[in-house]
Amino acid sequence: MNACIRAVVRTALYHRMEVLGIIRGYEGMIDGDFIPMNAASVANIIHRGGTILKTARSARFMKVQWRRKAAEQLLRNQIEGVVVIGGDGSFRGALALSRLCDTRFVGCPGTIDNDLAGTDFTIGYDTAINTVVDAVDKIRDTAESHERLFFVEVMGRDAGLIALRSGIGVGAEAILIPEIRTDLSQLIRRLESGRKGKSSKIIIVSEHDDAGGAFAIAEKVKAKLPYYDTRVTVLGHIQRGGNPTAMDRVNASRMGYGAVEALRKGKKNVMAGIINNQIAFTPLEKCVKHIARPHKDLLVMMEILSL
Ligand code: F6P
Repeated sequence: MNACIRAVVRTALYHRMEVLGIIRGYEGMIDGDFIPMNAASVANIIHRGGTILKTARSARFMKVQWRRKAAEQLLRNQIEGVVVIGGDGSFRGALALSRLCDTRFVGCPGTIDNDLAGTDFTIGYDTAINTVVDAVDKIRDTAESHERLFFVEVMGRDAGLIALRSGIGVGAEAILIPEIRTDLSQLIRRLESGRKGKSSKIIIVSEHDDAGGAFAIAEKVKAKLPYYDTRVTVLGHIQRGGNPTAMDRVNASRMGYGAVEALRKGKKNVMAGIINNQIAFTPLEKCVKHIARPHKDLLVMMEILSL
């Protein structure tokens, strides 16, 4: 997100716009917590994870009286355009606010889950995937040496895209995602009939898989296959931080730049995403819908490759 903030600030300053940073997202907007930003405010942040502006899941903003307060703050501070970096919830918030004021909102897709329509990649997704791959490569060393079966739980609130891509990247033996019903009997059969002599097995479990979390699934599998030395690792919030990958930095810079260009052109309620390597503007109401993308072909490929 910092790379995106940097791009927004510097592009806007280049066009002689005045820029304010909103602290803690909608929470800070309600309280009028705005800080003036200049080119130096965003120096040396492109390589840092998180956001220098802080963020919050605002419970107050869910109520219309607080959204009115936020709209008043925008008016009082003469804010004509807001760039919202976030996911589904942040964009729903922007749409709700746009019904209460004339300020124009442009979104940049910021979520590690990659579950937004209107962009091929969201900011943070590639970094999260690389963190998972790095962690599982390390886990694989123990799995190999001790000949163990590991269940590794990864994030993705409503989407299995982190699990899917990282699972392919680590050469997982199976990937369990919420979009496809998990058949534990089939998984157990595969583990039983898999190639003999294979020393390690890694199963990637998306945090909200329909069969349960990694611990619950591991227990059920262990009950049927007691001869496996089984372990569970939940990667958790390490996936939401760390220095962003080059891909995330470049995408975030392009999206931030694109968002300011959109405001300059008078666009509103659109998201600046990247589709087929081109900046693309998609109406926010289309981006908030979670799109279940076809994963089956990738899962079939993963199974073949892990034989
Ligand atoms: O939506 C992004 C995400 O990282 C999910 O993958 C995860 O379930 C959630 O946020 C974690 O949120 P929190 O830090 O509030 O627990």
